[in-house]
Amino acid sequence: MQEIVRTGLSPAERLSATLEARTARVGVVGLGYVGLPTAVEFARAGFPVIGFEVDEARAEAVNAGRSHVCDVPDGVLAPLVQNGKLRATVDEGRMRECDVLVICVPTPLTATKQPDLSFVHQAVDSIARSLRRGQLVILESTTYPGTTEEVVLPRLQEAGFVVGEEVFVAFAPERLDPGNPSHFREVPKVVGGHTPTCTQLACQLYEHVVDRAIPVSSPTVAEMVKCYENVFRNVNIALVNELALLCDRMELDVWEIIDAAATKPYGFMPFYPGPGVGGHCIPVDPYYLAAKAREYDFHVRFIEVAAQVNDSMPYYTCSKVVGALSRHGKSIQGARVLVLGATYKPDVPDVRESPALKVMALLRKRGAEVSFHDPYVAEVTLPNPGTRLRTVELTDEVLRSADCVVIVTNHRSYDYPWIAGCARLVVDTRNALRGLRNGNVMTL
Ligand SMILES: NC(=O)c1ccc[n+]([C@@H]2O[C@H](COP(=O)([O-])OP(=O)(O)OC[C@H]3O[C@@H](n4cnc5c(N)ncnc54)[C@H](O)[C@@H]3O)[C@@H](O)[C@H]2O)c1
Repeated sequence: MQEIVRTGLSPAERLSATLEARTARVGVVGLGYVGLPTAVEFARAGFPVIGFEVDEARAEAVNAGRSHVCDVPDGVLAPLVQNGKLRATVDEGRMRECDVLVICVPTPLTATKQPDLSFVHQAVDSIARSLRRGQLVILESTTYPGTTEEVVLPRLQEAGFVVGEEVFVAFAPERLDPGNPSHFREVPKVVGGHTPTCTQLACQLYEHVVDRAIPVSSPTVAEMVKCYENVFRNVNIALVNELALLCDRMELDVWEIIDAAATKPYGFMPFYPGPGVGGHCIPVDPYYLAAKAREYDFHVRFIEVAAQVNDSMPYYTCSKVVGALSRHGKSIQGARVLVLGATYKPDVPDVRESPALKVMALLRKRGAEVSFHDPYVAEVTLPNPGTRLRTVELTDEVLRSADCVVIVTNHRSYDYPWIAGCARLVVDTRNALRGLRNGNVMTL
């Protein structure tokens, strides 16, 4: 490194050399579902990595080799910590030691579903306080088109550096699929830098950890790519949810229809109905785009329509349970309803925005005695009025004594033949009992 400095290389050339040699120190800001796997991948590729956290307990756990993210086993994390390749800290002053800073902080919505960029502001302000020549700053958090250039860039420029010559800035959206860790390397990384040099340096970095980096012409383009991907998914889920509502009225089996349609080898991609959309992305990101669009007097109608349909699904699920019970001569009032699965998708421990919570709250409101089981979640807090429920043990007796079992999340670890055999009545929102249906099973 000293030798490189003496040769009078530009900051970009110097950074490029350290990226090539994998000696560039990579800082990952925010060690959550996205940040921790990202930090681990850079460390596994040979880069020295520092993870920055505001949550002291989380940083300590990482330094003890304990992972809080299902896609990062302790057996992968601990050796990287032990051999000094990866450390976590709450000391933002150490950001100055890093050649690259990758921001992976949350981008939630406010209570009124407006973008909440406060975590991004905090992270960028921390970086700006210790910014030095030669650093590459990359935002990975999902956000609306324009954030990098309108929010991140000015804060870094205030520190007095010329972006593209002295410091470098890019947006590279995370495309993680929780529960599917093997994907990291295979999923191409879209990269949009503020200048061609920024893009080239960020691509050079990611090419060490993914098979392909896809350069695009600006951070705003990369941000729009991410929004489009998630809106695409959201809208298609809404479309199939609406189809499920129509099929219900026409007494058709929507699952049979999707399976048959999915045999078309081109121009069709199957999406599946469910009790609503959850997680940190699909129900959140479209609102980021919708908010930005309004600045241009533009209303993204598909987003609004999709939200109307998807937001109605927990209510529809609840009405399905009411109907199923009534067919069995039972009232929802006082009925014992057992919900299986509380997480927003199978095989992950994440309950953020999970429709299961809404479904449980609605069933309680209608008078049901609700309990739940989830192999990944010990306790949940239901929305309005904030009731807490603890997971029950799943036994023959618990299944048999429920007036209705509602499968909300189709975890792979469930023994579905056993569930179908024991339960008196099932509302299956995921077609988890495919091939096991009997007269007591109702699907969406
Ligand atoms: N979870 C996913 O599946 C997924 C997939 C693709 C994209 N994303 C996007 O990635 C971003 C991060 O999501 P996540 O699921 O990893 O969130 P998360 O809540 O799991 O993790 C974020 C972490 O950042 C930390 N943090 C907050 N502010 C900080 C700061 N100023 N400095 C340092 N650390 C800070 C928090 O303590 C937390 O540990 C979001 O924009 C999200 O939309 C998430």
